[in-house]
Amino acid sequence: MKVDVILGLQWGDEGKGKIVDYLATRYDIVARFQGGPNAGHTLKFDGKKFVLHTVPSGIFREGLINLIGNGVVIDPITLARELQQITDAGVSYSDRLLLARKAHLILPTHRYLDAASENAKGKEKIGSTLKGIGPTYMDKTGRNGLRVGDVFQADFQQQYEALKEKHLTLINMYPDIDFDLAAEEEKWMEAIKKLRLLPLVDAEYYINDALNAGKRVLAEGAQGSMLDIDFGTYPFVTSSNTITAGVCTGLGLAPSRIGEVIGITKAYCTRVGSGPFPTELEDEAGELLRQEGQEFGATTGRPRRCGWLDIPQLKYTIMLNGVTQIVVTKVDVLNNFESIQMATAYNVDGQSGDQVPYDMCKFDIDLELESFPGWKQSLDHAKSFEELPDLARNYLHTMENYLGVPITMVSTGPERNQLLVVNGEV
Ligand code: GDP
Ligand code: IMO
Ligand code: MG
Repeated sequence: MKVDVILGLQWGDEGKGKIVDYLATRYDIVARFQGGPNAGHTLKFDGKKFVLHTVPSGIFREGLINLIGNGVVIDPITLARELQQITDAGVSYSDRLLLARKAHLILPTHRYLDAASENAKGKEKIGSTLKGIGPTYMDKTGRNGLRVGDVFQADFQQQYEALKEKHLTLINMYPDIDFDLAAEEEKWMEAIKKLRLLPLVDAEYYINDALNAGKRVLAEGAQGSMLDIDFGTYPFVTSSNTITAGVCTGLGLAPSRIGEVIGITKAYCTRVGSGPFPTELEDEAGELLRQEGQEFGATTGRPRRCGWLDIPQLKYTIMLNGVTQIVVTKVDVLNNFESIQMATAYNVDGQSGDQVPYDMCKFDIDLELESFPGWKQSLDHAKSFEELPDLARNYLHTMENYLGVPITMVSTGPERNQLLVVNGEV
């Protein structure tokens, strides 16, 4: 068997949680392969709303195994909080949520470092979620990190203290900030006790054995491809490989194991945090997108920056990920627009093209825009793709033609069932 992948093609928040939750019933295992509690994946069903940060979005589907892979960074405090919410919702997870022993731990001092370093950057700040992601991946690649499996080692406390001391030395390099380390440390140690109760696995063996036994696996991406550490809008990126390649290193899978790659894009574009965003709208249209789309961060509550769909950007991330199917979300957010624009090419230094320049900050990008009349109606009546208004289908077909990959699903609202499957089954 091969692993299917769902990931974001823009700057995150494309609606991955909703689509994973919808498709999860077709799989035996849903696995997160990178990122950490910087993610906020929203699920809405039966009038309830859940935001997941570390736990995979298959957790609300009965009997399904949810695996947190080695490529994920875990904050025990956030995880414990999330598990409490799941328990409060009457959902049992005890034998269905597995943690990779090789996943790295986020310490309170990683968050402290994240906050101190961002504060010191002033106007140049990345706009990090301040969840300690960057410092934790730095310790991973710097070969200093603590891993989930280490919590059972006799010298765990000493290892923790040694790493903390190293962090405190680094924190001294930055201007002072408020951070109640003693209180955070107490919460962390309590949360570690809860983490010890979860089933730990050598995830690379677990997942390869599962595939060999014919199990169906869905890998759930976090963030978006434009936030990828190598290919995103560096330095305004996250600290992991968010693209398909990250599935291999984040779960211990060979590239030949990758099956369908389902890329998710909104019908427009958003980004939260700093960094280049060529199609950004800082006018009434941008504000309308934010209000209609309720574009406020699921993790930090920050207003998301909004803009038109960007074809060169999407072509780039489709190429990087080997996308085989596209899911377009939030089409309903465009319902009240008189006209809708789509950036179809970039003009850089007088040259028209569709390649993303190596550093979007260092080039002036003029957009070539195509304009579409809005459909000016609700999409609630549409129970199939064919029942969408002609103008909405026209917009989606144009997008598909530019991108050269089939659109297989269209999302028309936040609820689990507000999803249209194109041409019957996916
Ligand atoms: P993720 O990080 O990719 O899982 O996405 P987020 O959960 O951060 O952000 C997506 C937001 O859009 C959530 O509030 C979802 O409930 C909501 N959403 C998802 N799909 C749709 C849709 O088709 N229409 C509308 N209006 N909202 C949607
Ligand atoms: P999901 O999985 C949107 C952004 C932050 C910041 C940059 C670096 O919900 O799509 P970090 O905390 O990783 O150091 O922040 O990346 N960012 C996200 N933006 N959705 C996310 O996750 C994000 N995770 C990180 O806003 O600009
Ligand atoms: Mg999100």
